[in-house]
Amino acid sequence: MKDILLSQQDGVLTITINRPEKKNAITREMYAAMADAFESVASNNDVKVIVIKGEGDSFTAGNDITMFANASEETTQDTVRFMKALAESSVPVVAQVHGAAVGIGTTLLLHCDFVYCADSTYFSLPFINLALVPEYGSSLLLPKLVGHKKAAEWLMLGDAFDANEALSAGIVNKVCSIDELEQTTQQTVSKLLSKPKHALRQTKALMKSEQDEMMTHLHTELKVFGEQLASAPAKEAFDAFLNKRKPDFTQFD
Ligand code: COA
Repeated sequence: MKDILLSQQDGVLTITINRPEKKNAITREMYAAMADAFESVASNNDVKVIVIKGEGDSFTAGNDITMFANASEETTQDTVRFMKALAESSVPVVAQVHGAAVGIGTTLLLHCDFVYCADSTYFSLPFINLALVPEYGSSLLLPKLVGHKKAAEWLMLGDAFDANEALSAGIVNKVCSIDELEQTTQQTVSKLLSKPKHALRQTKALMKSEQDEMMTHLHTELKVFGEQLASAPAKEAFDAFLNKRKPDFTQFD
């Protein structure tokens, strides 16, 4: 599909989010294509590393808000399938990030093994501003990683943060200039390709000892997320975004 480009070469599967005119906002079909790609690696011994990146000026502006506005249990199935497939990936995943990394554009990074970002990257978890709740295990993982106070700024206030803050919080491995980004990613990819395949997969599996707790939490979040998605304040937030106006949540207080 044109909005998700897949290329496999020399043991590397590269997934490129390719909807630059919409800041790479992710639709149901795009989630399905990425889920298929991650799932296919489980039975593909030729892939040793997965790289995920965005085309144009952004990594991704997160879930397509039009999709949110028309969401049903059926339409969110592919999002959940993608979340599980990435979180359970048996091979190392390297994210190459630049521009906007919003919503799932930030939360998916918590499930990658290596994250390299350009110094101009803009991270944001604006769920609260959409009357939603965090997703993808982030309400468990972020307080553990950055402490409750910092996580509260990002998840309760919806404060955006920059590349250096992401680095000091431990969300990214390295910050570099946009010109060095591809090369920085490729250095790690080359190192990974030189490692023994089976031991690499086993190492990753051993590092995921808290996976069961995370998956349980992810499902708890999804239940609350689904309830919020159908709520009147969320409908107000989606309508406001799509009509380029500020939402008014006071009418629901
Ligand atoms: N869903 C649907 N469309 C989106 C989108 C999203 N998440 N993010 C951006 N777009 C669209 C815009 O509506 C706009 O479309 P248009 O040209 O038809 O009007 C186009 O992409 C460009 O976005 P724009 O807002 O003009 O770019 P910007 O550089 O001014 O701002 C962002 C970039 C990422 C800050 C801004 O687009 C944004 O806040 N997007 C929403 C992020 C979000 O809340 N995601 C959901 C997270 S849960």
